[in-house]
Formats: sequence, structure tokens, C-alpha cells
Amino acid sequence: MTEESISPQMSPYVVSVEAGKKYFWCACGKSAKQPFCDGSHKGSGISPVAYNAEKAAQVYFCGCKKTQKAPLCDGTHKKL
Ligand code: FES
Repeated sequence: MTEESISPQMSPYVVSVEAGKKYFWCACGKSAKQPFCDGSHKGSGISPVAYNAEKAAQVYFCGCKKTQKAPLCDGTHKKL
């Protein structure tokens, strides 16, 4: 069974990503290394979402974990 994700924070995490690097966004909300996966999802039925940075940029990773556009913030946190 899939658990409900928890919200470590109700706003996005702004991260400067590096070109060519792959990131794993925490989808369950339990990672201690937000907004990225640290393996805490094990047993929850939730998996992290990969993000490939094509260029160096500032990325808004969803912190509420309820976005419809994972791993990016889509504004859903404002309605929670
Ligand atoms: S932080 Fe989740 S939608 Fe904005």
C-alpha cells in the first residue's frame, strides 16, 4: 500500500543545480536531506523522482510534496 506523502515545508526549495547533474527529488517527504532523497521512502510505496539538469539554473523543487508537476513546484502549496 502506498502511504500519503508528508510535507516537510509549505513552500518550494530553491536549489542551484549544476549542468549535467542528476538529482533525485524526495516524493515521500521523510528525507532528512530535503528536497532530495536519502532513502527514507523505503517501505512507503513512494519512489523519488529523477531530475536531469541540462543547464545550470535555479530550480524550485516542491517542498509540500503535493505538486502535480513533480519534482517542481506548481503552486499547489498555496491551496493546502
Ligand atoms: S511547494 Fe509543493 S507545490 Fe509549491
